Amino acid sequence: MEFKYFAVNDVVPNEITIITKDLVPEGFNGNARARADCAEKVNVILEDLGWASAKAQGLKQPITSGPKFRMSEHILYILVDPGNCDGRGSVVGLLKIGRKKLFMWDLAGYQHEVEPLCILDFYIHESKQRTGWGKKLFEYMLKHQNVLPQHLAIDRPSEKFLSFLYKHYGLEHILPQMNNFVIFDGFFDSESALS
Ligand code: ACO
Repeated sequence: MEFKYFAVNDVVPNEITIITKDLVPEGFNGNARARADCAEKVNVILEDLGWASAKAQGLKQPITSGPKFRMSEHILYILVDPGNCDGRGSVVGLLKIGRKKLFMWDLAGYQHEVEPLCILDFYIHESKQRTGWGKKLFEYMLKHQNVLPQHLAIDRPSEKFLSFLYKHYGLEHILPQMNNFVIFDGFFDSESALS
């Protein structure tokens, strides 16, 4: 995914860049004007990425957009292929996470109020799927958040994502819930997953 009016590498400087609600990449150096200009370009990137992700998941509206993201405490990891497009770089995908207060059932039938880290949106560009980019992005997030895959809650996972979680992390046994979130066996093993 490339953009006509700017080079991706000038806006999102690392292979994986972290963005929070000010829409300015972590570590960005520049004055107020440069920050505003950068945030505007990130907004354009999120617009395209958000729609591409929605389309890939068969949704009518994007889950991720600049205006929605600005009003959230979510964390976004943007993945770039810096060598693509004659060195201008191309955006490969996104992973959005955040904590949510949820009621979850364990296998014994007890309900718990928890606030786990949730996977809210995950997308790799069609041209790059099934070549390991998703794993690279997901692994980065796991290390950055110091979290194990079984301690995550997943918001409406697609079949592809379920297959991804099984292939790379052996996650298979879903604990049935009354909401749209999917959790796996092992979710309740750690206190740290619950707060
Ligand atoms: N069909 C079935 N399984 C798939 C597919 C597919 N078309 N694509 C990826 N996978 C799974 C498989 O387990 C695959 O292993 P295999 O090729 O040996 O069968 C594995 O993922 C490949 O791992 P990566 O290459 O690291 O994954 P990828 O870069 O493709 O990223 C992702 C995975 C994000 C699910 C990507 O395929 C994608 O963007 N899909 C479309 C959008 C989507 O479904 N996003 C998740 C929505 S749910 C949510 O966001 C909370």
